[in-house]
Amino acid sequence: MCGIIGYIGQENVYPILIQGLQRLEYRGYDSAGIAILNGSLKVFKCKGRVSDLEQHVKDEDISGTIGIGHTRWATHGEPNDRNAHPHTSMNGKFVLVHNGIIENHTELKTDLMKNGFRFQSETDTEVLVNLIEYFYSKGEAIDGEMAIRLALSKVVGAYGIAVICTKEKDQLIVARKGSPLVIGVGEGSYFIASDASPIIPYTRNMIYLNDNDVAIINRQGLILKTVENIPAVFNITKVSMTIGEIEKGDFDHFMLKEIFEQPKIIEETFRGRITSDHSTIILGGLMDVFPKLLSAQRIIIIGCGTSWHAALVGEYLIETYARIPVEVEYASEFRYRNPILTNTDVVIAISQSGETADTLAAIRMAKANGATVLGICNVVGSTIARETEGGVFTHAGIEIGVASTKAFTAQVTVLTLLALKLAKENEKMTQETYQCLIQELINVPAKVQSILQKHLHIKEVASKYKKATNALYLGRGLLFPVALEGALKLKEISYLHAEGYAAGEMKHGPIALVDDNLPVVVVAARDDYYTKIVSNIHEVKARKGNIIAVVTEGDNNLNSLVNDLFEIPESHPIVTPILAIIPLQLFSYYIAVSRGCNVDQPRNLAKSVTVE
Ligand code: M6R
Repeated sequence: MCGIIGYIGQENVYPILIQGLQRLEYRGYDSAGIAILNGSLKVFKCKGRVSDLEQHVKDEDISGTIGIGHTRWATHGEPNDRNAHPHTSMNGKFVLVHNGIIENHTELKTDLMKNGFRFQSETDTEVLVNLIEYFYSKGEAIDGEMAIRLALSKVVGAYGIAVICTKEKDQLIVARKGSPLVIGVGEGSYFIASDASPIIPYTRNMIYLNDNDVAIINRQGLILKTVENIPAVFNITKVSMTIGEIEKGDFDHFMLKEIFEQPKIIEETFRGRITSDHSTIILGGLMDVFPKLLSAQRIIIIGCGTSWHAALVGEYLIETYARIPVEVEYASEFRYRNPILTNTDVVIAISQSGETADTLAAIRMAKANGATVLGICNVVGSTIARETEGGVFTHAGIEIGVASTKAFTAQVTVLTLLALKLAKENEKMTQETYQCLIQELINVPAKVQSILQKHLHIKEVASKYKKATNALYLGRGLLFPVALEGALKLKEISYLHAEGYAAGEMKHGPIALVDDNLPVVVVAARDDYYTKIVSNIHEVKARKGNIIAVVTEGDNNLNSLVNDLFEIPESHPIVTPILAIIPLQLFSYYIAVSRGCNVDQPRNLAKSVTVE
């Protein structure tokens, strides 16, 4: 949800801003803009992508060593030039980029208008920058920093901001509440960004800001304090991300690269968590809270989108193997519906980014109600990772494609480890079965690799269905969430309407959709539900639906019933969700590419949803 970049140092700022915005474009791509202070202030911005901005400035003087930039995912005000960031205050004293939502912007704007302020855009951000100028103009005792803090103390909502005061030329001020901000510490230079990815070409030393932090930065150093002017301490964290991780390499899209990374990612996620004799699972981040998990009245798993689908897989796994009651909730519902929570509940929040606003708010609510709150997160240093009492990191590396792929399989890998460990410690599983299922997980990367090798077949099948307008995805048991995730992948990147359904529910409504035009993707790998799903395939076939089935290798029973098959290697059902999603990810990818869609940056979406 909007990307922010900033720099102060000795180097020419323009390439740093542009390359940074390119890296952050996955967060929003409705408009892009930069502001550079070099004696005077220059602001360039336009609707569209960073490449449009580059065209826009090609004949301009863009020299300078201090600047800020923004790539927008529109909330308030349509995507156009006027609403693009940076926003300048009415008298040009401040320029600001913002990620988040100022919820009380209407009241603030009314008051400012009574004080003579006039506005150019429909954004909440322009209200904030003028509010800063309003306080600044109150008297000489108020400098830029104080004006920013005074303005922020009046704001309700979420913000990550970078601000330049044009009267205080060698300074950049940043602040956060609810929206992520990272400061990269270089030699006599500082980098600001919404995440670490645009900074790592320059430095690995990062300061992750906390809510309510304000940092006043110049070339000599930085001062950290709170909005209330209380000095704050900061820690410099060394990140391990590499430049290779943030580049596409030989792949056409990040999404394809990330799909193909999955054998390695899954292995990274379980490696170090299984003892070398394959006899025990160790989840270091849960060590202290494990007794609470084992004695929990219930576990509630929360998340959004793909992370919510992983949570559903977790529910099936934990209930089946560990026999602990599990509920799964959309974070966006959970946070508002006043759920009954006690200190015997354990809430597990799943989030790739660790910044999803609804998930974060749900965590805070659950904590306030006495629940133990844990996290399964991908981004180290993210807000959710920091605000949970324990948890497990997925080791998926940075995920840039807006459609989540490797993050999902890494999340399910963690949930499988967790379910097995709970089952063992809860005495619901023998050591023999435990070791046997650990081995199943260890075998997964090679099996995923073998599915990926069949990508050309999946591409060929996808080309047959590229003109479809709707699709139905069916699954049962552990493969029901896979059907949901498969449908989400198709929707978000190819703009085809796709619905995921529990196959047993089909006869209660969706079967009405089935005709000879409808592709029906059935996840029918061999498991305990196999005979039931075969009956569902017959029901679709009887109504002339086009069936694309994910089946276990060597299962020839379905050949005559289905139009197309994607085979996955034979495995224990515990790992089939990880295997079965792979062909569906590729299927969506190839359909989207053949429809000419922007796979990595689908319309209206953003990678990290930091607004509710
Ligand atoms: O970062 P999170 O896992 O919290 O994000 C949750 C969803 O926004 C995310 O999974 C979204 O649904 C993806 N676009 C799915 O591909």
